Amino acid sequence: MKIAILASEGAPYVKSGGLGDVMEALPSALARRAGNEVVLLLPYYKRIIDNPAYETQLVAKLQVDLGWRQQYTGIHRLKNRADGVQVYFIDNLYYFGARPGAIYGDWDDGERFAYFSKACLEALLQLNFIPDVMQCNDWQTALVPVFLKARYSARFPKTRCMFTIHNIEYQGWADSYFFDDVLALPEDYRQRLEMSGRVNCMKAAIETADLITTVSNTYAKELMYPYYAHGMDSVLSGNAGKLTGITNGIDINTFNPETDPALPAHYNAETFAEGKALCKAALQKEVGLPVQADVPLMVMVTRLAGHKGLDLLCHIAHRLLQEENCQLLILGTGEAHFERFFLDLQKEFPKQAAAKITFDLALASRIYAGGDIYLMPSKSEPCGLSQMNAMRYGTVPVVHATGGLKDTVPPVNENGEGGLGFTFQSYNADDFLYALKRCLHLYSGSNGKFRALQRKCMEQDFSWDKPAGQYMELFHKMCR
Ligand code: GLC
Repeated sequence: MKIAILASEGAPYVKSGGLGDVMEALPSALARRAGNEVVLLLPYYKRIIDNPAYETQLVAKLQVDLGWRQQYTGIHRLKNRADGVQVYFIDNLYYFGARPGAIYGDWDDGERFAYFSKACLEALLQLNFIPDVMQCNDWQTALVPVFLKARYSARFPKTRCMFTIHNIEYQGWADSYFFDDVLALPEDYRQRLEMSGRVNCMKAAIETADLITTVSNTYAKELMYPYYAHGMDSVLSGNAGKLTGITNGIDINTFNPETDPALPAHYNAETFAEGKALCKAALQKEVGLPVQADVPLMVMVTRLAGHKGLDLLCHIAHRLLQEENCQLLILGTGEAHFERFFLDLQKEFPKQAAAKITFDLALASRIYAGGDIYLMPSKSEPCGLSQMNAMRYGTVPVVHATGGLKDTVPPVNENGEGGLGFTFQSYNADDFLYALKRCLHLYSGSNGKFRALQRKCMEQDFSWDKPAGQYMELFHKMCR
């Protein structure tokens, strides 16, 4: 099958969050399946152009119309990727190549990604790669199914389009002039793009794509409710027949405690007791906490954003550190008031709390390995990947039972049996604290039960094999 995957980020070239990780591992897992030919299209951001590790060759130049505009487009083929995925970067200096800084957040993001979506279709034609399936991700590529149906159906007569929602919060809103001025779509599409008097790219994709997926089963169900859907509940329930949840995997080669180059010691499910102890001591030293083998180290790697459940943690942090002999380490950047809170906490409890306000992938790995307990109290979580990273490194998760957290962390009982981690059902600080205390209690029980749970976490298969198979099933279904 010929598959084209389109996204606004993909590791290792460019990544701002979980989408980037998925766009590294999913194409690769699909390309491993016999008979598939996979191309991945990404914008040619400045940081990719400037990175000498990524050698490319300009294979075509063309002009892309966007309303009254005509924009240069260069197609750059990545030369050095070993896994069979063919990566193409879409080059336009004005939209991507000459903009320093973050990849999102410019005033004209709508136009930038409308351009990217259309340029991808033109690029595939130019490359003479007419896919059976296009797989598009989040609002930045939400206009692909729309352009495909409205303007390109004669040239892609059999191509089907899947739209995948990684996070419903970001929908691609634009003012209504955008429809004519930038998109210049036929009049009968106006309704599909319109929402509350403005243009909403995600809504258009939900209505137009052949199938819709999201990144866990539970999130697919949650999206039917206003509490989770950020205004998109009725649009989604009107299209519920097209929606499926497929739980993400993680890249088990990148996240492998036996080989991860960031770790001071390596281990597997047999040798983890010793290996993790070495990693824990080194980590405590690195972040300035007392090196104490028997004190449980609770860790969190996260964007410091409200929906990650930090308000719950802030609410209970003092009580937790006063009442329990434990350590807390947090890594991440984000909202200033959270950054300040954790830096203050570190000052107040220098022997128990550490805050690293930075984005550091290697330190993140050392935290997954050196921690005992991983906290993820997200208010909502489409899938979440770091709880799986943590489990793969033998760190026991304590999570709010929502979205992908509910699907990947089945609850254990007081003895640490029957599941993979400690969970709490309602989004409430006391319930979170109680779940943490149950976990700490299991840890200090020193009767081997905590270790048994760690081993079980490490033995799980979080690879992309199964989800890639589920994507393939849906691809075949669309093409029938
Ligand atoms: C988004 C979601 C996260 C998910 C990731 C990859 O970042 O917030 O839950 O794991 O996308 O699908």
